Amino acid sequence: MAVGLVVEPCRHTGAQLCPWCSWTRPSQAVLLVARGRTARTGFPVAAVVGTVLSLVNQGTVITDGTATGSTWVRVVVVNYAVPVIVASVGYLSGRRVQADTVPWCGYLAGYHRDRPGITELLLEPATDRRHERPYLWLVEPLRGRPDLILDLACGSAPTRELLRDERWLGVDTSSGELAVAKAAGRSPVVRAGADQLPLGDHTVGAVCAAMALPVLTPLDAVLAELTRVLRPGGILVALVPCRLGPGRGLLAWWRVMRALGIPSPPWPNPHARDGLPKILRTYGFTVDSSRRRVFSRDISDPHDAALMVDGLYLPGIELHRIEAARAALAAWARPGRRLPFPLRRVVAHLPSTG
Ligand SMILES: C[S@@+](CC[C@H](N)C(=O)[O-])C[C@H]1O[C@@H](n2cnc3c(N)ncnc32)[C@H](O)[C@@H]1O
Repeated sequence: MAVGLVVEPCRHTGAQLCPWCSWTRPSQAVLLVARGRTARTGFPVAAVVGTVLSLVNQGTVITDGTATGSTWVRVVVVNYAVPVIVASVGYLSGRRVQADTVPWCGYLAGYHRDRPGITELLLEPATDRRHERPYLWLVEPLRGRPDLILDLACGSAPTRELLRDERWLGVDTSSGELAVAKAAGRSPVVRAGADQLPLGDHTVGAVCAAMALPVLTPLDAVLAELTRVLRPGGILVALVPCRLGPGRGLLAWWRVMRALGIPSPPWPNPHARDGLPKILRTYGFTVDSSRRRVFSRDISDPHDAALMVDGLYLPGIELHRIEAARAALAAWARPGRRLPFPLRRVVAHLPSTG
């Protein structure tokens, strides 16, 4: 689960923690500059700022024809090089990664082993202003379908309750999550990775992916696998967190993120939220709809606040910061207070012929 302000994803891989753009030690930052990683940010800034500064402080000398060698050195070094350096430092400061960042897959496995059912626990009680619930909204386009529905990264399988009469199969890597699903009588479920589905080509009529695509890695392999198992004309219905707009609860989220010391939870595929329709099109899907709805849930007391913070993926964040975030949200909590979760539902389909 994660909602919050979004860090600009890497333009090479689309990930927040990109090995081509992220750095830990200063020597790695220097290497990134040497490889030209900062050039796309630095050069346009320098072109504009450098030209304006040159016209202002050296323009007369140049147009008079009295420019000397030192004039040109000043123009290049001061007017152009300084903006390149400043813009590069700005770029790099947003790409610094803590040295102890936990590898994502291991973190995710441990997180769901220790908290099976957490996503459902957080999302299930949430409602929008029409008192509708997120999972019910998600499954609307899937109801009454005769062909197999694959719930990708099904977790504790909350959608099974809502698709009782349909042919349904849940897949997840977490045995803890699947145990919760089975204990609730939600079946069949299979333990498997989203990038290696135990299904034949074109055997699935619809894929349901609740809160999954921004966390599944590598996303390109997962999407390639979906297009393999989906039959021509098959549909994908995905629910993802999306950008938080202005409104109630923004301050509470800001307090939480400030206490954590991050602009947003570091998901591996942040572009698979508001940018999901664009990604799906590149995999051959036609996007039928992409709708945003703001759900919210009670944060009445410190218990709700602690559960909420526990529901965030926070790899590499120190314990004292997590405790500070809990305390910040607990101080905001009171009966009647509701924290918003903006969600996006994307419905897309593959072309009917291969
Ligand atoms: C945010 S939870 C969503 C769970 C469920 N869809 C729900 O809405 O309650 C993400 C799920 O992805 C599962 N997961 C993580 N990596 C996976 C992978 N490579 N293949 C399949 N499932 C994976 C986790 O175990 C977890 O249950």
